[in-house]
Amino acid sequence: MAPLDPHSFTDSTHTLTTHIALSLYFDFPSATIHGAALFTLSSPHSGPLCLDTRSLSIHRVLSPSTLSPLPYSLSPFCDPIKGTHLSLSLPNDAALSSFLITFSTSPSSSALQWLSPPQTFNKKHPFVYTQCQSIHARSVFPCQDTPAARIRYSALLNVPRELSAVMSARHVDRRLPVSGEGYSNLLPNGFNSLWCSETRVVEEFDMNQPIPPYLFAFAVGELGFREVGPRTRVYSEAADGVLEAAAKEFAGTEDMIRQGEKLFGDYEWERFDLLVLPPSFPYGGMENPRMVFLTPTVIKGDASGAQVVAHELAHSWTGNLITNKNNEHFWLNEGFTTYAERRIVEAVQGEDRAVLSIGIGWRGLNDEIKRFQDNLEFTKLKTNQEGVDPDTFYSQVPYEKGFQFLWCIERQIGRPAFDEFLKKYIATFKFKSIDTETFLDFLKANAPGIEKEIDLVLWTEGTGIPPDAYEPVSNLYTKIVSLANEFKLGRMPREDEVADWQGQEWELYLENLPKVVEASQVFALDARYRLSESNDYEVKVAFLQLAILSKCRDFYGEVEKTLKEVGRMKYLRPLYTALVQGIGKEEEKILAKRVFAEARDCYHPIAQGVVESIFAKHL
Ligand code: BES
Ligand code: ZN
Repeated sequence: MAPLDPHSFTDSTHTLTTHIALSLYFDFPSATIHGAALFTLSSPHSGPLCLDTRSLSIHRVLSPSTLSPLPYSLSPFCDPIKGTHLSLSLPNDAALSSFLITFSTSPSSSALQWLSPPQTFNKKHPFVYTQCQSIHARSVFPCQDTPAARIRYSALLNVPRELSAVMSARHVDRRLPVSGEGYSNLLPNGFNSLWCSETRVVEEFDMNQPIPPYLFAFAVGELGFREVGPRTRVYSEAADGVLEAAAKEFAGTEDMIRQGEKLFGDYEWERFDLLVLPPSFPYGGMENPRMVFLTPTVIKGDASGAQVVAHELAHSWTGNLITNKNNEHFWLNEGFTTYAERRIVEAVQGEDRAVLSIGIGWRGLNDEIKRFQDNLEFTKLKTNQEGVDPDTFYSQVPYEKGFQFLWCIERQIGRPAFDEFLKKYIATFKFKSIDTETFLDFLKANAPGIEKEIDLVLWTEGTGIPPDAYEPVSNLYTKIVSLANEFKLGRMPREDEVADWQGQEWELYLENLPKVVEASQVFALDARYRLSESNDYEVKVAFLQLAILSKCRDFYGEVEKTLKEVGRMKYLRPLYTALVQGIGKEEEKILAKRVFAEARDCYHPIAQGVVESIFAKHL
């Protein structure tokens, strides 16, 4: 066994899958998908072949031509991080280049959130969506779930006819089901006969570009859309308010795509559609190709919503075209994307906005380094992730230290040369999955002598923040940081000083305050600026975190409300952590446990797991 990836059972000596054809029957009442998957290998293979699964029932493994059963076994134990290992045994006498598996997901499949009608906006129809990054695709279908193994896919989604589906793929057709299509006649438990029921439709998709499995995505529900640009529609639950607001918020998307193309080369994915999910979506955004998934909390009518779109758009080049080989090189995805996002933001929103975003990131990076002072491994760009759950150790380090590294290279070789370098890097490695060494070799070859100017080993393998990292400067940034310093001396900003502040200015201000201040100062700040009621969650959560740590219990009602209305982990993590960490906080711990018990069902399974791991660490 030669593992390729610390988070996958994929064996590097085995043949890789190049295409998966999926037929998926969505059974909403039981929150289960029954599926048939036809796997095509890059070349004929005989003997053992390892696949990743989690919470899947495997029904049959068959040879597609004869439908004769192939031997397989499931590991008796479920690895808490990697899941269950499915080992096939392909015939030795006649190597196969394809095989077929029928399976069912379970209601606890970690990628899937099933929302019952009362949990949706319109309260009429159910909704289900995926979040496969980092290692959850295996809970939807068996696969070699490592970004080192890129796959093309096609999919037939059989759904109730009042619903529609979107995917990270080209939409081919919405049509009546056809009996026996896509091996649907092999589906288990009588679902084969329901395939053609008159209450069902088939949504057909094709993804003919090779993508890492974590970019597999779908959402099924009562969806509507608005056109916002020549290659962009915004989708969401068909509720007028949300769609209108989203269409307005994202009107500048085409402009950003054009800027991205100028900087990084052609946009290769044809369409750039956006899907606004219910508030329980656990991330700000997810770069599913052709169909970015977004939290509704980004719709707030100022510059920062567009910045999340800029980030997911930037992944179209860095992450989706060039992909980290495994999660140990995650900074190649997120550090590059954070850099690319800020270049797009600078081009469309101006330098001041980009510098604010760099400043918020700089503060965040410094806080993360403190958080990991007892676990310095996680302050490295290239990390050892053996035995590490990527959801639990998600941090800003790969984003912000990665950004700082690239920004440092840009300063060293100059922007024009760095721009040329980036274009060449993307053109050279597109549709490939690479590691840090490949990047460094390419850098050294294309920026000769760079290793004499920048300590590349310190940056990629060292802990903490290297000395040539750089705090940004601009009048606005410097002003906000100095106002935050004055707060420590008891001076609150005057109304005229904050008159034109947007959410990001407040975010930067709050993040530069001490973690704990006098309760009276927290009350005074809120009395004047009503930050606890802000409709910008970045501001509200930063304020509530300060309030909890400063023991201002009057705000706990607002904390509870926030934890119950959104499931974005960026907000859940700091609020739950602030409540439960530290000693002698019985009231806060009881509150956290009660709120989680009441809100749990509304969170995505990944978010449930993350809150549970915060509790396990501190309670
Ligand atoms: N790809 C990430 C989200 C992600 C990372 C999901 C790791 C699962 C595992 C996405 O591009 C992202 O970084 N989202 C940010 C947006 C932000 C940096 C603008 C988020 O969700 O906060
Ligand atoms: Zn990202």
